[in-house]
Amino acid sequence: TAGASGCSLLAGTPQPQLLTSAAPLPRPYAVPLPLPEVAEPVRGTGGTDFYELTERAAEVEVLPGLRTPIQGYGGTFPGPTIQARSGRRTAVKLINQLGEPTVLHLHGGHTPPESDGFPTDLVAPGASREYVFPLEQRAATLWYHDHTMDYTGPRVWRGLAGMFVVRDAEEEALPLPSGERDVPLLICDRSFAADGTLLYPALGGRPGVREAYMGGVLGDVILVNGAPWPELRVANARYRLRLCNASNARVYELATGGPMVRVGGDGGLLAAPRTVERLRLAPGERADVVIDFSAYRVGQRVELRNLAGEGAQGRVMRFAIDRPERDDSAVPPRLSAVEPLDPSRAKVTRDFAFTSGSMHGGVGWLINGRPFDSERMEARPRLGDIEVWRLTSDVAHPVHVHLDHFQVLSVNGERPSGPPEWKDTVELRDAQTVEIVTRFTDYRGRYVLHCHNLEHEDMAMMAAFEVV
Ligand code: C2O
Ligand code: CU
Repeated sequence: TAGASGCSLLAGTPQPQLLTSAAPLPRPYAVPLPLPEVAEPVRGTGGTDFYELTERAAEVEVLPGLRTPIQGYGGTFPGPTIQARSGRRTAVKLINQLGEPTVLHLHGGHTPPESDGFPTDLVAPGASREYVFPLEQRAATLWYHDHTMDYTGPRVWRGLAGMFVVRDAEEEALPLPSGERDVPLLICDRSFAADGTLLYPALGGRPGVREAYMGGVLGDVILVNGAPWPELRVANARYRLRLCNASNARVYELATGGPMVRVGGDGGLLAAPRTVERLRLAPGERADVVIDFSAYRVGQRVELRNLAGEGAQGRVMRFAIDRPERDDSAVPPRLSAVEPLDPSRAKVTRDFAFTSGSMHGGVGWLINGRPFDSERMEARPRLGDIEVWRLTSDVAHPVHVHLDHFQVLSVNGERPSGPPEWKDTVELRDAQTVEIVTRFTDYRGRYVLHCHNLEHEDMAMMAAFEVV
């Protein structure tokens, strides 16, 4: 029924579609987990570190023995990890050596509008632009990726994504695992042609081809840091894993079969650790978890599985406990102060409906019945005001709001369990209402909110708002 009708009935609404690889796929856990290189600043002055990121075409080995053409920051996939400090300005000069215009966005960044990567603020081929991130925000696991209007899905799929870690003194004072035992894990799915080329539905190709995938594109190979079902050798000690779901449309339900202690989310540390058996992560969401491998013997292996996936897509990676190691780390019972935003002080309540519907004579994804229009402001929140936003869905949509983190008040009328936490992406499941409370601070100007299923986003499920 994909793309068949313009109605927003659940039954007829397109779902994500799996693209099947023709390439020979490796056995799971045969490839070691790579760690993306850490970006080196080109220079640093008083309060600013300057980086350069060159977007260029490259060929990398993703599947053993095959060359995969990518578009990558620094020609790598994922791009280099940027290690930044709260309150210290990070300036990134984006140099576009691709043959097409691009936009850079720091996902989760508290960023002034001129550097936030508004989807029409294009960097032309051959041009460059400096993005300045003041990072007046708490320590958190962020990520950066392309944000070009209508083309984010294919750009990210071809490689334009990387991790961005913000640290601060509060977090460093905690005894959480650090150094080599603080590991970024950028998870995404891809599919490959027989020669190793990435598959993606043709844009503007045969009519109907892209529409068939308007529900979202799922790959059949699960990559972690760009490697298929990799293995990480670990000591029998605690590890902090910074999980980021960088997939276009795939939702993961991660589990090891043992306890995982979640210490952070999109917007940094939780108030207190939470022990979970499974962890759901929609596109765009992050989670910081501590896994204590001292619960296992040297020689044991622990799979990180995806309970939401079938067959090979039910596997993600494996940890091989290969050595004893002294471990002074701990997960303290209190991590941080998370001040609740009080919804009774909200000045405005706004509604945002995420549905499919007809647009420009075809079918697309809409917010409040309208496709994205960069000139049209869907809302004008006032700087500093608390607001309640009521988000509703037809089918599942991971909703992301730029500029500031928010707190979830209710899901279908029920309070979420546990104390509030800061998020920037929240998954609406089929036919849900999620209320969030938010407050935009420091910067006036134009931003966007959108669905982080990247095919939905590209098919117009985005709206602009202006902080006034
Ligand atoms: Cu991760 Cu507006 O994007
Ligand atoms: Cu969506």
